[in-house]
Amino acid sequence: MTARARSFGAAAQEYDRLRPAPVPEALRDLVPSTDAAVLDLAAGTGLLSRSLAAVGVTDVVAVEPDDAMRAVLSARSPGARVLAGTAEDIPLPDASVDAVLAASAWHWFDPDAATAEIARVLRPGGVLGLLWSFADPDVDWVAELRRIGRADQQGSAPIVRSGFAVELPPGAPFGPGTSRVFRRSTWMAAEDVAGMLGTYSSVLTLPADERAEVAERARDLIARRVGTDPVLVPFATAVWRAVRASE
Ligand SMILES: C[S@@+](CC[C@H](N)C(=O)[O-])C[C@H]1O[C@@H](n2cnc3c(N)ncnc32)[C@H](O)[C@@H]1O
Repeated sequence: MTARARSFGAAAQEYDRLRPAPVPEALRDLVPSTDAAVLDLAAGTGLLSRSLAAVGVTDVVAVEPDDAMRAVLSARSPGARVLAGTAEDIPLPDASVDAVLAASAWHWFDPDAATAEIARVLRPGGVLGLLWSFADPDVDWVAELRRIGRADQQGSAPIVRSGFAVELPPGAPFGPGTSRVFRRSTWMAAEDVAGMLGTYSSVLTLPADERAEVAERARDLIARRVGTDPVLVPFATAVWRAVRASE
């Protein structure tokens, strides 16, 4: 894993408090039924696992490589089944889950190894769902905020530029992918919007003085362009979905 892929644990508490959970409607097409067995891959602090629980999904296993992220997940999701592991080496048996979901994480995986592992653990007819939740750059001040947070640099930037059109490796045993975007706005304290930028790998990997400068520029932008506190922040969840083919 690269330094950026490993950077999140340093801010695990703030990550969990400030990052957007998926828009709930986005989960509807991804989970066949509330008693489906679902893998939350690269589960982080459990934002998606808790969203699944909130819509009634009871059989969720969360896999996450970072110790600090996993510790927050376990603390905030009592009773959750949480395993150490990576997308390239999933600690589950063959054909053991009905859905594999990965939120804001596909871009960190080795696509060949991860696709093979996901195909191995999914039952035929099971769903691969890739999600990204983000402040919506279609709104001008948010686009400027994202530039301050260097959201245009590596990380998810290439997948955002492609319009979340995921391409699995050639020959992967999945049907055609389909994409949808779901939107919802959330009130946040201005200070928390500035703090949220500090949970992205593009900022987490900067020296401390540059991280502080990012937060200062974000506060200044919100005061100039929005002028309210709390701030109504437009969020979106982009979803890409494909079905595991039968052998
Ligand atoms: C942006 S966070 C997303 C966390 C969570 N899914 C969410 O929606 O909040 C990316 C996560 O991917 C994990 N990660 C990075 N590389 C990974 C890999 N190769 N396999 C599995 N997880 C990985 C990181 O440790 C981090 O928790």
